Amino acid sequence: MKIGEVLISAEEIDAKLAEMGAAITEDYRGKDLILIGILKGAFVVMADLARHIDLPVEVDFMAISSYGSATKSSGVVRILKDLDQEIEGRHVLIVEDIVDTGLTIQYLLKNLWVRKPASLSLAALLVKDGIDRPPLDVKYEGFRIPPKFVIGYGLDFNGKYRNLPYIAVVEDEE
Ligand code: IMP
Ligand code: MG
Repeated sequence: MKIGEVLISAEEIDAKLAEMGAAITEDYRGKDLILIGILKGAFVVMADLARHIDLPVEVDFMAISSYGSATKSSGVVRILKDLDQEIEGRHVLIVEDIVDTGLTIQYLLKNLWVRKPASLSLAALLVKDGIDRPPLDVKYEGFRIPPKFVIGYGLDFNGKYRNLPYIAVVEDEE
């Protein structure tokens, strides 16, 4: 494969995360907030978004693996690492890199609601346009992008390119 067009620069990402962080700071002031990052993809967004939130938040992570091909989600999710702590009665914000088919996040929302959080919302840096998916409320949304496979800023192609500081399109997937 080749790294194609840069869709979103590092500077644009940082400005957007600052906006999202400011909104989260307003909305959760005075509340007990825990951020849950979905590994591996969300590790970069989590680190940068959390530093734009001016509240004493806690962070935790879940590691999941979705069965499917390299570039297509199947919606069948396996939990590789669960949360370290209970979320009952707490305000929970899931931090995701990207919503594509929405199947992964749908599974996670169902799984986490059972644990009776006080609230459960979603922040995602990227949401793919033009995808047929179940209705999903992304409370804090970064960028809408075309339905192409992208890499960088936590997003991988076959496990690599997560460390690119920008979001780029994958040119030929072979
Ligand atoms: P979904 O279940 O189809 O919404 O996709 C969930 C996961 O698939 C995301 O959290 C990403 O890890 C991965 N994913 C979806 N689209 C892309 C992409 O364009 N590049 C890299 N990973 C992606
Ligand atoms: Mg992935």
